[in-house]
Amino acid sequence: MANESRVRRIGVLTGGGDCPGLNAVIRAVVKTGIFEYGLEAFGILDGYEGLVHNRMIPLDESAVSGILTVGGTILGSSNTAHPFKYVPHGQKGAEPQDVSDQCVENFRSAGLDVLICIGGDGTLSIAHGLAEKGIPVVGVPKTIDNDICGTDVTFGFDTAVQIVGEAIDRLHTTAMSHHRAMVIETMGRYAGWLALVGGMAGGGDIILIPEIPYKMERVFDVVEERSKRGKRFSIIVVAEGVQLPGGGYVIRQEVADTHHKTRLGGVGVWLAKEIDTATPVESRAVVLGHVQRGGTPTAYDRVLATRLGHAAMVQAVEGNTDVMVGRQGTRIVAVPLLDVADRQRLVDPDGQIVRAARAVGTSFGDE
Ligand code: F6P
Repeated sequence: MANESRVRRIGVLTGGGDCPGLNAVIRAVVKTGIFEYGLEAFGILDGYEGLVHNRMIPLDESAVSGILTVGGTILGSSNTAHPFKYVPHGQKGAEPQDVSDQCVENFRSAGLDVLICIGGDGTLSIAHGLAEKGIPVVGVPKTIDNDICGTDVTFGFDTAVQIVGEAIDRLHTTAMSHHRAMVIETMGRYAGWLALVGGMAGGGDIILIPEIPYKMERVFDVVEERSKRGKRFSIIVVAEGVQLPGGGYVIRQEVADTHHKTRLGGVGVWLAKEIDTATPVESRAVVLGHVQRGGTPTAYDRVLATRLGHAAMVQAVEGNTDVMVGRQGTRIVAVPLLDVADRQRLVDPDGQIVRAARAVGTSFGDE
């Protein structure tokens, strides 16, 4: 296809926490650009950090060859670099500066025409801010949390679900041998998608997610009832963003200078102790943590990532910017970044997925 647009050179960056499929998007962006439009592509290193400091590398066909199946990102990422509230690397606690003009200057001096930003809510809302300063941007949604508005699903989620499901399979057998309640804590921040879908895939007996308030007594009852029925083990999947009964979260760390100031983690350990104390059933906790973000993407994520990368490049060349590409139904569409930035897509507590889980006997600790 001939390139009749004014777009000749594009930049691509990966921001925020990584997830499987980022390299597949980079590959699709670069290959579509080269093969379909005869463009030049540049990779910006370490997310917005590289845009602030003008660190870019040329990406030709060989640079993206062989990366479809590789986890992580060949460009590196940063979930602290924020051009509008920038704190230089290694200077934690320093007064944040607005260095967005520097980013615009670096973008222009590199001769870039469009910037493709692959990232989660933080990266996409910064992308929208840069669009308002005149940089034509196209966003690509990524996250294992699956919580981005404007898309039915994000790449990385399917791989993480697979990892959660496999972990539960393994924990099932040891839970059975020892007649234990095994608590598995998933990531996902304040959204319950990963616990819900991963928990369903692993046949969790109890799934606790932030979107459905639970009662501790109900959790204890379910564990004990199962025990009395001869099922002397239970699998309990809990999302890291589930609140404690009195309100508040279990927090791993509070951090300044990042989009997400609270690092969650540990609610599973707390829950296992409570079950251990309140019921006759011995309990253990496993926090799956960053294992959920690592490794090779599933076939589904590779294909979704490829479609999104291709679509992002098409939007860029057609001049449809300040948008994010996403999957709605079976189609890839473009939605305004404004409708996506700083919003979150949560599980519908009355939706079909939750109803299906309840129908097969999964408890959400609420009834
Ligand atoms: O948003 C992705 C995610 O993996 C969340 O599920 C998790 O809470 C967070 O990032 C962990 O962030 P970090 O890598 O900074 O510890």
